[in-house]
Amino acid sequence: MGSTSPESLVPGRVLISEGELATRVAELGASITADYAGRAPLLVGVLKGAFMFMSDLARAVDLPVEFDFMAVSSYGHSTRSSGVVRIVKDLDLDLADRDVILVEDIVDSGLTLNYLRRNLLARNPASLEVCALLVREDHSIDEAILRYEGFRIPGEFVVGYGLDVDQRYRNLPDIRVVETASGAEAAEAS
Ligand code: IMP
Ligand code: MG
Repeated sequence: MGSTSPESLVPGRVLISEGELATRVAELGASITADYAGRAPLLVGVLKGAFMFMSDLARAVDLPVEFDFMAVSSYGHSTRSSGVVRIVKDLDLDLADRDVILVEDIVDSGLTLNYLRRNLLARNPASLEVCALLVREDHSIDEAILRYEGFRIPGEFVVGYGLDVDQRYRNLPDIRVVETASGAEAAEAS
């Protein structure tokens, strides 16, 4: 076999610890609380990756927030972008005149975020800002779009705290770099 099967990718070293996540999420929540004082923002979470971040973030925001979710598919079963963004589940709520905060797990190329922003802006919200837990150092989108961000990270593929590889490891409480399981390369070479 020439390719690495998803099953052979496992969580390796910790990139961002549980404590670092908690501290940063609390800071982001405090910023949102201050910036949206007197308003009731609508948090729009992008499933599935953002579910854990959004849940912690919402508890760090001291405002009457509302929630909605949409599911998009931008990756297949590999760790590489397919370049295709598809809405798998759309929002339930009307965005017209709402202060919307789009909550994302990670901005990698920025393809998904660009698509989602255009899509949500077409629904005429009063405002639209982005809150991304992770942002890739070499992303290719306008910096001004990233109003709230947790951490800048290098190119390595990561899992945990909502993020997956082939649907696994979302439940890890920290963010870890994926590694090829020991023995997998030897098995493939034979
Ligand atoms: P983009 O469209 O290239 O910005 O990709 C964004 C989406 O790709 C994210 O919402 C994730 O679902 C997925 N993704 C990108 N990098 C990673 C990673 O390191 N771990 C897990 N998912 C990732
Ligand atoms: Mg995602």
